[in-house]
Amino acid sequence: FSSHPPEKERTLIVVKPDGVQRRLVGRIVQRFEQRGFKLVGLKLLQVSEDLLAQHYQQLRSKPFYPDLVQYMTSGPVVVMAWEGHQVIQSSRKMVGHTNPAEAQAGTVRGDFSLHVSRNVVHASDSPEGALRELQLWFQGQELLNWDCVDQFITC
Ligand code: PPS
Repeated sequence: FSSHPPEKERTLIVVKPDGVQRRLVGRIVQRFEQRGFKLVGLKLLQVSEDLLAQHYQQLRSKPFYPDLVQYMTSGPVVVMAWEGHQVIQSSRKMVGHTNPAEAQAGTVRGDFSLHVSRNVVHASDSPEGALRELQLWFQGQELLNWDCVDQFITC
C-alpha cells in the first residue's frame, strides 16, 4: 500500500422515490456492499421542498426543476452514506450516466431505468459536493464510525 494508500472518502447516495416504489432498495444496497464499501449512514424519509431546493441549488432555474421537485417529493427516499477508497468516483461509475439512455448496462441506471426524469438514484459528483450533501442530509451523529471487531466475522 505504501505508494497507493487507500483514500478513505464518504459519499451520499439517494434512492429516489421511483427506486423505493419499485422495491429496488435492496438491490442497490447490495451493489455497494458487494463492491466493498462500508455503510455509515442510512434512513428513509419524505423530503421537504426546502431540503430539495438546497440540494439542487444549481438547478433551481432549470425548466425541469418543478417536475424534479414533484418527482422527488412523490414518496419517500432512502438516503445512504457510503465510505471507502475513492467511493465518490466509483459510485458515480456504478450509478451510470445521468441519462439512462446513455448509461451502460451493469450500472444502476443502465439496468433499472429508461428516462432522466426517473433515474432511480442520486450520487454525489465530487469531494466538495459529497461533503456539502452529507452535511445537508445527515445530522453529525447519524453518521457512524465502525469496524469489524468480531473474530468470527470476516470483513
Ligand atoms: S444539467 O441541466 O446538465 O445541469 O442537469 P443534469 O446534470 O443533466 O441533471 C442534474 C439533475 O437533474 C435531474 N434531471 C431531471 N429531473 C427531472 N426531470 C428532468 N427532465 C431532468 N433532467 C435532469 C438529473 O437526474 C440530475 O439529478 P441527480 O439527482 O443529480 O442525478
